[in-house]
Amino acid sequence: MSPRHAARLDKLQPYMFAQLEQAIAAKREAGIDVISLGIGDPDMPTPDAVVAALRDAVGRPDTHQYPSNRGRASFREAVASFYEQRFAVRLDPATQVLPVLGGKEGIFHICQALLDAGDVALGTDPGYPVYTGGPLLTDAEPYLLPINPENDFKPDLASIPADILKRSKLLFINYPNNPTGAVIEEGDSFFADVVDWAKTHDIIVVHDNAYSEISFDGYRAPSFLATPGAMDVGIEMFSLSKAWNMTGWRVGACVGNTEVVSAFWKLKTNIDSGMFEAIQLAAATALTECRDFPDEMSAIYQRRRDLVIEALRAIGLEPNSPKGSIYVWARVPEGHDSASFSQLLLDEANVVVSPGSSFGAAGEGFIRISLSTPDDRLREAIGRIEASLGVGQAAPAR
Ligand SMILES: Cc1ncc(COP(=O)(O)O)c(C=O)c1O
Repeated sequence: MSPRHAARLDKLQPYMFAQLEQAIAAKREAGIDVISLGIGDPDMPTPDAVVAALRDAVGRPDTHQYPSNRGRASFREAVASFYEQRFAVRLDPATQVLPVLGGKEGIFHICQALLDAGDVALGTDPGYPVYTGGPLLTDAEPYLLPINPENDFKPDLASIPADILKRSKLLFINYPNNPTGAVIEEGDSFFADVVDWAKTHDIIVVHDNAYSEISFDGYRAPSFLATPGAMDVGIEMFSLSKAWNMTGWRVGACVGNTEVVSAFWKLKTNIDSGMFEAIQLAAATALTECRDFPDEMSAIYQRRRDLVIEALRAIGLEPNSPKGSIYVWARVPEGHDSASFSQLLLDEANVVVSPGSSFGAAGEGFIRISLSTPDDRLREAIGRIEASLGVGQAAPAR
């Protein structure tokens, strides 16, 4: 009997976090207290004002019918005014803003809107897995560019072979970056170089802006769309998930180039019938009334980042101290690869970290530690890791 699923599903790797969740569940079933530093899912509550806004909105019958796929005007206006005040980016709320059911949905479905079979979508390795799964499920081809400490975690666009470049239609980039924590510093020409390159090669840029509001040490992450010319070549997927502790709410926005937003809208009218309008109203409250909330969260993540960096240094590793995102990306000790070191931490310390290799082959030799765990549990995890490895005994791999 032929398999009862589409052949394209066989192209997908098992979703990394599904495997992690299984490992955690198995230990917990055995009565073991496992601390997960694996998944980037904020542990703190959504702002009270947003929860209250949802409560009010749920009681309003005008939110109860099919929403428009364009989104409520007040949601689009809130996104546009946030972008203007925060990033100095002017968006037309009528044509350049579209709600997405989280950045993940946006990234996945933008592939359906932009790619045909045989097209190439460029992404980074390591990178968010949907930059690969999205193209594959469109029968397009992902082509991943390595990012590493040597290239300052910026893909080398000049390294793309001519035959790949000819078939390339879109490029995914993401700063602050998951999993590496890399950022675009002031004066960095990377975004401007991407705009020039995209114009030259007629490529649509999708900047995944899931982490811009979580940043440390006074750093503020820019929007790709603030780069001169960026609005001509690309869009940004903005998400409220991480900075307003709203991962469960599934709310974000696709913003930028009018033609791309319009193509995406056309696709989405055939898929999801929009976002519950009560959620749009609550999200608008987050963007207008809770502008300082991400700064409060950033202060907490910065404290946790410092705890983790200090602990990793104590066990002999040399992690970079990230200026943004909610992750620490660290090289594993000599004698280990990503999987063996992650397994060691799970076996010996009952602590889950993400093996770098699960974000792509170029992530081999690294682990990713998520900071979305309460301080006391994070301290406990650090204590267990230090106890099981012996402080100062492991030497970093070169
Ligand atoms: C780089 C990156 N992009 C997008 C997302 C998706 O976030 P959401 O769908 O919750 O907006 C995530 C979530 O972890 C992410 O790490």
